[in-house]
Amino acid sequence: MSCHIVDHPLVRAKLSVLRDAGTPLKEFRGALHELSLLVGYEALRDLEEEPVRVETPLSRCAGSRVRDPIFLIPILRAGLGMAEALAELLPDAPIGHIGMFRDEITLEPQAYYLRLPPGIEGANVVCVDPMLATGNSAVSAIDQLKRAGARSLRLVCIVGCPEGVGRMRSAHPDVPIYLAAIDEGLNERGYIVPGLGDAGDRYYGT
Ligand code: URA
Repeated sequence: MSCHIVDHPLVRAKLSVLRDAGTPLKEFRGALHELSLLVGYEALRDLEEEPVRVETPLSRCAGSRVRDPIFLIPILRAGLGMAEALAELLPDAPIGHIGMFRDEITLEPQAYYLRLPPGIEGANVVCVDPMLATGNSAVSAIDQLKRAGARSLRLVCIVGCPEGVGRMRSAHPDVPIYLAAIDEGLNERGYIVPGLGDAGDRYYGT
């Protein structure tokens, strides 16, 4: 399994805004939106293309289009903001939803919702969630997507940690991970340190 950290000054600058406990809601949303675009763009670098002919106003030339459809699958709730950002780049991408909450005692994900667009077998499936913490939610989401028939999968997050990356690596070695940063580790409540706190609470102001 490959784990890609997007190495770019703009990514580091926007991630610093996201991490800052004093960042107001509007700026937090803006930074998550922009980071989703920057990390998501890198995650789509190896999409299969097919040639097309294009008529410019002056002549014909060789062009290209993405061969297979792209499906966006946010893990609720914090993944929604990332999916909305990527839908700007991919306005015809269907969006499916996976609902999971974390049992605060066991830290295990509890699945409560799954709604996927038809045709997932032939799509490039991009699962999004800002935080790859224990990895339990990501592994469960990818399990559910594979059971539904998904074959080409990518996991796009913003902040990860060695525990989450390791858990994904052993459960789904075929699924590449894209991140803006890998942090030190998890605290006793399963939060990434230094991280940015609860991504859903910060994005929704709850
Ligand atoms: N989920 C979050 O929102 N933040 C963390 O640090 C870990 C899981």
